[in-house]
Amino acid sequence: MIEVEELTVRFGGVTPLDGTTLTFEAGTCGLIGPNGAGKTTFFNVLSGFVRPVGGSVRAFGENLLAMPHYRRARWGVRRTFQTEQAIEELSIAENVALVHEHSRRNGRRSRRTDVLEALEFVGLEVTPTTRVGTLGSRDRRLVELARAVVGNPRLVLLDEPAAGLPDEETDHIGQVIRRIPERTGALVILADHDMNLVSGCCATTAVLDFGALIAIGPTDRVLRDEHVVRAYLGTDPGTQVVEV
Ligand SMILES: Nc1ncnc2c1ncn2[C@@H]1O[C@H](COP(=O)(O)OP(=O)(O)OP(=O)(O)O)[C@@H](O)[C@H]1O
Ligand SMILES: [Mg+2]
Repeated sequence: MIEVEELTVRFGGVTPLDGTTLTFEAGTCGLIGPNGAGKTTFFNVLSGFVRPVGGSVRAFGENLLAMPHYRRARWGVRRTFQTEQAIEELSIAENVALVHEHSRRNGRRSRRTDVLEALEFVGLEVTPTTRVGTLGSRDRRLVELARAVVGNPRLVLLDEPAAGLPDEETDHIGQVIRRIPERTGALVILADHDMNLVSGCCATTAVLDFGALIAIGPTDRVLRDEHVVRAYLGTDPGTQVVEV
Protein backbone atom coordinates (compact mmCIF):
# COMPACT_ATOMS: atom_id res chain seq x y z
CA MET A 1 0.00 0.00 0.00
CA ILE A 2 1.23 3.49 -0.89
CA GLU A 3 -0.06 6.30 1.32
CA VAL A 4 0.64 9.81 0.07
CA GLU A 5 -0.20 12.77 2.26
CA GLU A 6 -0.16 16.46 1.45
CA LEU A 7 2.60 16.02 -1.10
CA THR A 8 3.79 19.35 -2.53
CA VAL A 9 6.46 20.00 -5.16
CA ARG A 10 7.49 23.44 -6.36
CA PHE A 11 9.75 24.45 -9.23
CA GLY A 12 10.03 28.25 -8.97
CA GLY A 13 6.53 29.53 -9.72
CA VAL A 14 5.19 26.13 -10.83
CA THR A 15 3.52 23.80 -8.31
CA PRO A 16 3.18 20.48 -10.15
CA LEU A 17 1.97 18.72 -6.97
CA ASP A 18 -0.11 20.79 -4.62
CA GLY A 19 -0.95 19.06 -1.32
CA THR A 20 -1.80 15.78 -3.05
CA THR A 21 -3.24 13.09 -0.76
CA LEU A 22 -4.06 9.64 -2.08
CA THR A 23 -3.76 5.94 -1.31
CA PHE A 24 -3.11 3.09 -3.71
CA GLU A 25 -3.99 -0.22 -2.09
CA ALA A 26 -2.60 -3.01 -4.28
CA GLY A 27 -2.48 -4.46 -7.78
CA THR A 28 -2.11 -2.22 -10.83
CA CYS A 29 -3.36 1.31 -10.21
CA GLY A 30 -3.87 3.97 -12.88
CA LEU A 31 -2.65 7.57 -12.72
CA ILE A 32 -4.09 9.82 -15.38
CA GLY A 33 -4.43 13.53 -16.07
CA PRO A 34 -3.83 16.06 -18.85
CA ASN A 35 -0.32 17.04 -20.02
CA GLY A 36 1.53 18.80 -17.21
CA ALA A 37 -0.82 17.40 -14.53
CA GLY A 38 2.08 16.19 -12.38
CA LYS A 39 2.18 12.43 -13.13
CA THR A 40 5.87 12.24 -13.98
CA THR A 41 6.70 14.60 -11.12
CA PHE A 42 4.87 12.20 -8.77
CA PHE A 43 7.04 9.34 -10.05
CA ASN A 44 10.14 11.52 -9.69
CA VAL A 45 9.29 12.07 -6.02
CA LEU A 46 8.68 8.37 -5.35
CA SER A 47 11.90 7.34 -7.10
CA GLY A 48 13.98 10.08 -5.44
CA PHE A 49 14.75 12.34 -8.42
CA VAL A 50 12.77 15.24 -6.97
CA ARG A 51 12.57 16.34 -3.35
CA PRO A 52 9.15 17.64 -2.33
CA VAL A 53 8.81 20.79 -0.22
CA GLY A 54 6.19 19.10 1.95
CA GLY A 55 4.23 15.95 2.62
CA SER A 56 4.91 12.27 3.20
CA VAL A 57 4.91 8.99 1.33
CA ARG A 58 4.62 5.68 3.17
CA ALA A 59 5.23 2.57 1.10
CA PHE A 60 4.16 -0.65 2.81
CA GLY A 61 4.52 1.18 6.11
CA GLU A 62 7.98 2.59 5.45
CA ASN A 63 8.88 6.25 5.06
CA LEU A 64 9.98 6.31 1.43
CA LEU A 65 11.09 9.96 1.39
CA ALA A 66 13.60 9.32 4.20
CA MET A 67 15.50 6.82 2.00
CA PRO A 68 18.25 8.10 -0.31
CA HIS A 69 17.39 7.22 -3.91
CA TYR A 70 20.01 4.44 -4.22
CA ARG A 71 18.43 2.73 -1.20
CA ARG A 72 15.01 2.95 -2.81
CA ALA A 73 16.28 0.77 -5.68
CA ARG A 74 17.46 -1.86 -3.21
CA TRP A 75 14.20 -1.54 -1.27
CA GLY A 76 12.33 -2.29 -4.51
CA VAL A 77 11.33 0.92 -6.31
CA ARG A 78 11.49 0.48 -10.10
CA ARG A 79 10.44 2.82 -12.82
CA THR A 80 10.28 3.21 -16.54
CA PHE A 81 10.63 6.58 -18.26
CA GLN A 82 8.55 8.34 -20.90
CA THR A 83 11.60 8.04 -23.13
CA GLU A 84 13.43 4.76 -22.69
CA GLN A 85 16.61 4.71 -20.65
CA ALA A 86 18.19 1.40 -21.67
CA ILE A 87 21.86 1.71 -22.66
CA GLU A 88 22.18 1.21 -26.40
CA GLU A 89 25.75 -0.12 -26.40
CA LEU A 90 24.98 -2.87 -23.88
CA SER A 91 23.16 -6.11 -24.56
CA ILE A 92 19.60 -6.79 -23.45
CA ALA A 93 20.81 -9.07 -20.65
CA GLU A 94 23.45 -6.56 -19.46
CA ASN A 95 20.84 -3.82 -19.30
CA VAL A 96 18.54 -5.94 -17.15
CA ALA A 97 21.44 -7.22 -15.02
CA LEU A 98 22.46 -3.63 -14.20
CA VAL A 99 19.15 -3.14 -12.41
CA HIS A 100 19.45 -6.53 -10.72
CA GLU A 101 22.82 -5.50 -9.26
CA HIS A 102 21.07 -2.79 -7.28
CA SER A 103 18.24 -5.02 -6.12
CA ARG A 104 17.62 -7.09 -3.03
CA ARG A 105 18.42 -10.29 -4.89
CA ASN A 106 21.91 -9.10 -5.68
CA GLY A 107 23.71 -12.44 -5.93
CA ARG A 108 25.71 -13.70 -8.89
CA ARG A 109 24.12 -17.12 -8.74
CA SER A 110 20.59 -15.83 -9.03
CA ARG A 111 21.37 -12.96 -11.41
CA ARG A 112 21.54 -14.94 -14.63
CA THR A 113 18.40 -16.91 -13.81
CA ASP A 114 16.49 -13.81 -12.68
CA VAL A 115 17.46 -11.87 -15.82
CA LEU A 116 16.42 -14.70 -18.14
CA GLU A 117 13.15 -15.17 -16.25
CA ALA A 118 12.37 -11.45 -16.50
CA LEU A 119 13.00 -11.52 -20.26
CA GLU A 120 10.77 -14.55 -20.65
CA PHE A 121 8.08 -12.92 -18.51
CA VAL A 122 7.86 -9.86 -20.75
CA GLY A 123 7.79 -12.05 -23.86
CA LEU A 124 11.00 -10.79 -25.45
CA GLU A 125 11.86 -13.24 -28.19
CA VAL A 126 15.27 -11.83 -29.08
CA THR A 127 18.58 -13.43 -28.02
CA PRO A 128 19.60 -11.80 -24.69
CA THR A 129 23.09 -11.00 -26.01
CA THR A 130 21.63 -8.70 -28.69
CA ARG A 131 22.67 -5.04 -28.37
CA VAL A 132 19.76 -2.81 -27.32
CA GLY A 133 20.80 -0.27 -29.99
CA THR A 134 19.71 -2.70 -32.72
CA LEU A 135 16.19 -3.26 -31.32
CA GLY A 136 12.93 -1.83 -32.59
CA SER A 137 10.65 0.27 -30.37
CA ARG A 138 8.46 -2.64 -29.12
CA ASP A 139 11.43 -4.69 -27.99
CA ARG A 140 13.04 -1.66 -26.32
CA ARG A 141 9.84 -1.14 -24.35
CA LEU A 142 9.95 -4.80 -23.33
CA VAL A 143 13.55 -4.39 -22.12
CA GLU A 144 12.33 -1.46 -19.99
CA LEU A 145 9.60 -3.66 -18.54
CA ALA A 146 12.09 -6.47 -17.84
CA ARG A 147 14.26 -3.92 -15.97
CA ALA A 148 11.18 -2.96 -13.95
CA VAL A 149 10.30 -6.50 -12.84
CA VAL A 150 13.72 -8.09 -12.24
CA GLY A 151 14.99 -8.69 -8.68
CA ASN A 152 11.95 -8.52 -6.38
CA PRO A 153 10.39 -5.12 -7.02
CA ARG A 154 7.85 -3.78 -4.52
CA LEU A 155 6.73 -0.62 -6.26
CA VAL A 156 6.76 -0.44 -10.07
CA LEU A 157 6.17 2.97 -11.67
CA LEU A 158 5.37 2.82 -15.37
CA ASP A 159 5.44 6.16 -17.19
CA GLU A 160 3.63 5.77 -20.53
CA PRO A 161 5.23 2.35 -21.09
CA ALA A 162 3.67 1.83 -24.53
CA ALA A 163 3.94 5.39 -25.88
CA GLY A 164 4.31 5.45 -29.64
CA LEU A 165 3.51 1.77 -30.19
CA PRO A 166 0.70 0.54 -32.47
CA ASP A 167 -2.43 -0.95 -30.84
CA GLU A 168 -1.47 -4.59 -31.22
CA GLU A 169 1.88 -4.07 -29.50
CA THR A 170 0.24 -1.94 -26.80
CA ASP A 171 -2.11 -4.90 -26.14
CA HIS A 172 0.90 -7.13 -25.51
CA ILE A 173 2.42 -4.55 -23.14
CA GLY A 174 -0.96 -4.43 -21.33
CA GLN A 175 -0.99 -8.20 -20.91
CA VAL A 176 2.47 -8.07 -19.36
CA ILE A 177 1.56 -5.19 -17.02
CA ARG A 178 -1.57 -6.98 -15.79
CA ARG A 179 0.52 -9.95 -14.69
CA ILE A 180 3.21 -7.96 -12.79
CA PRO A 181 1.43 -7.85 -9.37
CA GLU A 182 0.68 -11.57 -9.46
CA ARG A 183 4.23 -12.50 -10.49
CA THR A 184 6.16 -10.14 -8.22
CA GLY A 185 3.74 -9.08 -5.48
CA ALA A 186 4.59 -5.47 -6.36
CA LEU A 187 2.16 -2.59 -6.45
CA VAL A 188 2.17 -1.13 -9.96
CA ILE A 189 1.28 2.47 -10.85
CA LEU A 190 0.59 3.06 -14.52
CA ALA A 191 0.66 6.70 -15.69
CA ASP A 192 -0.78 6.97 -19.17
CA HIS A 193 -2.95 8.85 -21.63
CA ASP A 194 -4.14 5.64 -23.30
CA MET A 195 -7.49 5.01 -21.62
CA ASN A 196 -7.83 1.56 -23.20
CA LEU A 197 -4.54 0.54 -21.63
CA VAL A 198 -5.49 2.04 -18.26
CA SER A 199 -8.95 0.50 -18.15
CA GLY A 200 -7.57 -2.86 -19.31
CA CYS A 201 -4.90 -2.96 -16.57
CA CYS A 202 -6.14 -0.96 -13.58
CA ALA A 203 -8.96 -1.68 -11.14
CA THR A 204 -8.39 1.68 -9.42
CA THR A 205 -7.44 4.97 -11.04
CA ALA A 206 -6.52 8.39 -9.69
CA VAL A 207 -6.80 11.60 -11.70
CA LEU A 208 -4.47 14.57 -11.29
CA ASP A 209 -5.12 17.97 -12.77
CA PHE A 210 -2.59 20.78 -12.31
CA GLY A 211 -1.16 19.01 -9.26
CA ALA A 212 -4.50 18.43 -7.54
CA LEU A 213 -6.22 15.08 -7.14
CA ILE A 214 -9.65 15.47 -8.72
CA ALA A 215 -10.92 11.88 -8.57
CA ILE A 216 -9.96 8.42 -7.35
CA GLY A 217 -11.92 5.17 -7.43
CA PRO A 218 -12.85 2.22 -9.66
CA THR A 219 -11.45 2.92 -13.13
CA ASP A 220 -14.69 2.52 -15.11
CA ARG A 221 -16.49 5.02 -12.89
CA VAL A 222 -13.59 7.48 -12.80
CA LEU A 223 -13.39 7.53 -16.60
CA ARG A 224 -17.09 8.39 -16.83
CA ASP A 225 -16.96 11.04 -14.11
CA GLU A 226 -17.96 14.47 -15.40
CA HIS A 227 -15.16 16.33 -13.53
CA VAL A 228 -12.63 14.02 -15.14
CA VAL A 229 -14.08 14.39 -18.60
CA ARG A 230 -14.09 18.19 -18.20
CA ALA A 231 -10.51 18.23 -16.89
CA TYR A 232 -9.43 16.42 -20.05
CA LEU A 233 -11.34 18.91 -22.16
CA GLY A 234 -9.67 21.72 -20.19
CA THR A 235 -12.81 23.41 -18.85
CA ASP A 236 -12.74 22.39 -15.19
CA PRO A 237 -11.10 24.47 -12.44
CA GLY A 238 -10.70 21.06 -10.75
CA THR A 239 -10.44 21.80 -7.06
CA GLN A 240 -12.89 19.32 -5.57
CA VAL A 241 -11.90 15.69 -5.05
CA VAL A 242 -14.60 13.29 -6.14
CA GLU A 243 -14.63 9.89 -4.47
CA VAL A 244 -16.40 7.83 -7.13
N1 LIG B 1 12.44 19.89 -13.41
C1 LIG B 1 11.43 20.73 -13.61
N2 LIG B 1 11.61 22.06 -13.53
C2 LIG B 1 10.60 22.94 -13.73
N3 LIG B 1 9.34 22.57 -14.02
C3 LIG B 1 9.09 21.27 -14.14
C4 LIG B 1 10.10 20.27 -13.94
N4 LIG B 1 9.54 19.03 -14.11
C5 LIG B 1 8.24 19.27 -14.40
N5 LIG B 1 7.97 20.59 -14.41
C6 LIG B 1 6.64 21.21 -14.64
O1 LIG B 1 5.75 20.58 -13.75
C7 LIG B 1 4.46 20.39 -14.36
C8 LIG B 1 4.10 18.92 -14.30
O2 LIG B 1 4.90 18.19 -15.21
P1 LIG B 1 4.88 16.61 -15.32
O3 LIG B 1 5.97 16.24 -16.25
O4 LIG B 1 4.90 16.02 -13.96
O5 LIG B 1 3.44 16.35 -15.98
P2 LIG B 1 2.83 15.01 -16.58
O6 LIG B 1 1.50 14.83 -15.93
O7 LIG B 1 3.80 13.90 -16.50
O8 LIG B 1 2.59 15.44 -18.11
P3 LIG B 1 2.64 14.53 -19.45
O9 LIG B 1 1.31 13.85 -19.54
O10 LIG B 1 2.80 15.55 -20.54
O11 LIG B 1 3.79 13.59 -19.35
C9 LIG B 1 4.60 20.95 -15.77
O12 LIG B 1 4.12 22.27 -15.74
C10 LIG B 1 6.09 20.92 -16.03
O13 LIG B 1 6.47 21.90 -16.96
MG1 LIG C 1 4.71 12.73 -17.83
